[in-house]
Amino acid sequence: MQEGILKQRAYSVAAMRDLARRRLPRAVFDFVDGGAEDEIVVGRNESAFDELSLLPQPMRGTSRRDQSVELFGKKLNGPVLIGPTGMTGMLWPRGEIEVARAAAAAGTVYTMSHGATVRMEDLARVAPGNLWMQVFAYKDRSLTQSFAERAHEAGFQGLVLTIDNQVLGQRERDLRNGFTIPPQFEFSGLLDMALHVRWLLRMARAPRLSMPNYEREGDTGVFSIGARIVGWMDASANWKEVEWLRRFWAGPLILKGILHPDDAKRAVSIGVDSIVVSNHGGRQLDVVPASLQALPAVVDAVAGEIPVLLDGGVRRGGDVVKALALGATACLIGRPHLWGAAVAGEQGVARVLEIYRTEIDRVMALCGWDDLDQIDRSVLFEPAAKNESVLSAFSRKLTSMLK
Ligand SMILES: Cc1cc2nc3c(=O)[nH]c(=O)nc-3n(C[C@H](O)[C@H](O)[C@H](O)COP(=O)(O)O)c2cc1C
Repeated sequence: MQEGILKQRAYSVAAMRDLARRRLPRAVFDFVDGGAEDEIVVGRNESAFDELSLLPQPMRGTSRRDQSVELFGKKLNGPVLIGPTGMTGMLWPRGEIEVARAAAAAGTVYTMSHGATVRMEDLARVAPGNLWMQVFAYKDRSLTQSFAERAHEAGFQGLVLTIDNQVLGQRERDLRNGFTIPPQFEFSGLLDMALHVRWLLRMARAPRLSMPNYEREGDTGVFSIGARIVGWMDASANWKEVEWLRRFWAGPLILKGILHPDDAKRAVSIGVDSIVVSNHGGRQLDVVPASLQALPAVVDAVAGEIPVLLDGGVRRGGDVVKALALGATACLIGRPHLWGAAVAGEQGVARVLEIYRTEIDRVMALCGWDDLDQIDRSVLFEPAAKNESVLSAFSRKLTSMLK
């Protein structure tokens, strides 16, 4: 797509989502967009950001704003990283490579999913950059180990262990659309795919969809491997698994899927390098808090020992700033980069990253902050009512003590 047109039409992440919705067959769009059960947590992740406001001090004067962050000794151009998402190649041929290239050009991290449609070695060769590899704890430790060893050999720097996916969440949009293993598309679903001609033609020219990171396990045709992965997941996995991985992986080890402050403390004590406060974008449990709601207690528990990252519902630069104000070092995005990939491959992802960058810069300029270090809890607006309720609770307690 012509750059100017993309810029004009994809003026926000929400606008990019709309463009993706029109370009993708419904079953594919819903696979990305949907979440577990009633999708309460999907909505909660986003609305939690609306509950917070920032208190600007515009006359501090900021001629130049710096939004770079340092993570594991490396400078990133901004606090927005690409999170792991399986099957990106279903949106755009070899989509993972497109996303990784956009991330490298933007000076940020690309996290490759276990369920990518390209081999990690191939991606690292054609899209080198700041790469992290995501794995699960499998019943067969040698599978986890081979993922990690291959990632290290291929030049991936970080290893992300996702801990909230040992049993698959119930994604009801997928059930309705017949997007299951094996697929059960109805005629209307197949017709809908045929009507999305540009997507269909693109995919027809793409390599066969598979999950080649599992090549060791035999036929990696996407549905056959998908069915088997579920059986390989170890629901009995516990902290011993993390301790084992810590001994074995020398580079940055990142635990993704933390919501409980005690788990955050445990991760620190094991020597994990970072944690991602995450509920898997509301795709697993539909009974949990928004990631943003869980963040402050986790940040307090970690007490500055390791950087805390966050994902889930980050749709605006202002959302990123709010997460940083609550103590996150950076945010990961899941669906937003997929919408960009679906619309225009690498160019679409680059545009999504540019939107965040511009919005963060605008918030910083208008609020009077020229460095991310200035963004902490003090920049959050505390409604008077909340202060009053704290005061009245205190005075009630005092009165009862004096009685
Ligand atoms: C289509 C899709 C596939 C995903 N696949 C993975 C995966 O393979 N591994 C993983 O750890 N997380 C996976 N996630 C979760 C994301 O990494 C991330 O936690 C979540 O999308 C963040 O929320 P957001 O989409 O609101 O930004 C996936 C998310 C989506 C939308």
